Parts: sequence; C-alpha cells; structure tokens
Amino acid sequence: MRVGILTGGGDCPGLNAVIRAAVRAADVDGLGELIGFKDAWRGVLEDSWEPLSIERCRGILPQGGTILGTSRDQPYQHPAGGKLVAAAMSRLGVDAIVAIGGEGTMGVLNDLHRDGIPVVGVPKTIDNDIAATEMTFGFQTAVQICTDAIDRLHTTAESHHRVLVVEVMGRHVGHVATWAGLAGGATITIIPEEPFDLAEISSRIVERHRRGRWASIVVVAEGAVPKPGTLDLEEPVIDRYGHQVLGGIGHVVAREIQLRTGIESRTTVLGHVQRGGSPLAFDRVLATRFGIAAIDAVHDRAFGQMVALQGGAIVRVPLSDVVGRVREVPADIRRVVRIFDPRAPL
Ligand code: F6P
Repeated sequence: MRVGILTGGGDCPGLNAVIRAAVRAADVDGLGELIGFKDAWRGVLEDSWEPLSIERCRGILPQGGTILGTSRDQPYQHPAGGKLVAAAMSRLGVDAIVAIGGEGTMGVLNDLHRDGIPVVGVPKTIDNDIAATEMTFGFQTAVQICTDAIDRLHTTAESHHRVLVVEVMGRHVGHVATWAGLAGGATITIIPEEPFDLAEISSRIVERHRRGRWASIVVVAEGAVPKPGTLDLEEPVIDRYGHQVLGGIGHVVAREIQLRTGIESRTTVLGHVQRGGSPLAFDRVLATRFGIAAIDAVHDRAFGQMVALQGGAIVRVPLSDVVGRVREVPADIRRVVRIFDPRAPL
C-alpha cells in the first residue's frame, strides 16, 4: 500500500512524533510506503509531497512543529473538493490518507469519507477540545508552558502588589486555562464555558486583598465571553478562513479590574509560545501511540475513523461522532477550580 500523511490546521508539539511512529509502524507491519504531503491539503491538491522513511524521521521525535508544514487550506474550499482529492490520490497511487489535525481537519475527513475516500484521523490540538478523546497531544506541553509562566508571574505580582492577568489559548473551551490555573495556583480562572462577570470578579479581588493577600493572578482563556449585558467588546477580526482572530480579552479584563478595584493590573498574553518547542514526554508517548494506531486502522481498512484515548486505551471512533461537537472541561475538574476560586456557589 501507499499511504499519504499530512498535518493540518494550527501546529502543536508532538506532530513529528506521530509521523515518525506511523513510518515505523508501516515498516514493521510491512504495510508499504508512506509519503508526506506538504502544508496539509495544499500538498495533496498541488502534488507537493516527499517520501517518508525511517532515515528521514531520525531525530524528529523531540522536535516541535511539523516537518511537513501545515496550513488551513482544505479541499472543500473548491466545489469539487472530494473529486480533486480522489484524482490526486490516483495520480500518485495513494491508497489511503492519514490526516493529523483538529476539529476542522476531522470535518474535512468526514466529508471525504462520505465521498468514498479512504481516510483515518489523528486528533491534535493544544486546546484539548476534540470530542471522543480524553486528551490530545500537545495539550500537556502547553499547560506546562503556561504553568511555568504563572510561577514567574507570582513573584513579580507579589513584589508590586498587583493583579496580573494571563491570557492563554482556548478558542471554544478552557482546558489549558483550567489546568494551568490549577497547577499555577491562580486566584481566578475564566473559561469560555462559564461567561464571566467582572463585577463579581472585582469584588472577589477586593475582598481577597482586604484580607491581606496583596497580589492576584487571573488566568483567562482567549475565547472567554462576558455575561450578556455586563461588558461591551469590540467586533472580532475574521481571518481569510472565516475564523475569529482571538487574543486581547486579557487586556480588557485587566483594564476593567484596575478601573473597578483601583488595584494596579497588567496583562501577559502567552500566545503562540504555547504551541512552540519540544513536546513533553507525555505528549511524545501519546502521539507515538496515535501514530501506530492510525497505521493499524489503515491496515484493518477501518476508514472513516479517528483514533482516540478513552479510559487510558487507544480506540477508534467514527469521525461522524466527532464532528460538530466540542469537549468541554468536565464538571469534576471545574469543581476543583471552584474550591480555590469560590466566585459562584459549588
Ligand atoms: O490550535 C488551536 C489554537 O491554538 C487556538 O487556541 C487559537 O485560537 C488558534 O489555534 C490560533 O491559531 P492561528 O493564530 O495559528 O490561526
């Protein structure tokens, strides 16, 4: 068999570990040859690819980013998207495609599967928001990067008796904010799942500082939204793929806290630093397991499936069970946050 592999959407630490593991598994299985499409679906449509071998993948396990490059281009931006992919596959003699990506990529795979194209999905995102998998690789690395930053912010916040607001990624949900807030001992954590009220947050900060705690750390996910009617926000910028360009809510939150409490407040936006650099050991291992599982699925001709982590085991789930859904921060983890951040009743 000849299998094409690609990485789509935003990058995250661990992508290279998946590619390396898939190449190794295909070799051990005797499945055949792997080729890597460059810059996601753009490489499929433009015949831009490279052969992948064990030799090519040497040394990439600890490397961040993706050796194949990525983009947000996707075939259904063209009306005949499915046909274009099928034609490219027959031109190159590719029998199946393994795509490593987030919710957008899983949606494309589901449509390709519907159009009769043999595909397998591997979930990735630092946001950890893909349905049907308990964890995506890249997430733990991002959480560690944020936790290290929060640890550093504590000492400067305490020296200056300030409120420091840390904005982290998390477009639809607040897994990164929640885990980093817990690990870093944040005073308040604001996530998209729970619209925030700055009056409530400010009075909690005032009360805390009155009790002699002279600094506060507020972690806010970039996709956090205020409770209706409590705060006016500017209209978001939309990129050429129709996605909202997030980033900036941290500045609004800090400005409002300072106005309402009189306590000096500053913002740190961690941004893309959360997606860069070498994956932690956990993410390398999860990515490796996913890469092998994806090749196993191709071997078993289990197309239209995404590999996933459930109950600590690697399983396959139909792509149709994944698309159009988002995995929110589970209630038990939110309760842990509330023990330390009792803004609302438990
Ligand atoms: O990968 C998901 C994510 O990190 C989101 O949290 C964030 O909103 C988005 O990517 C930003 O992506 P980019 O700036 O690369 O378009």
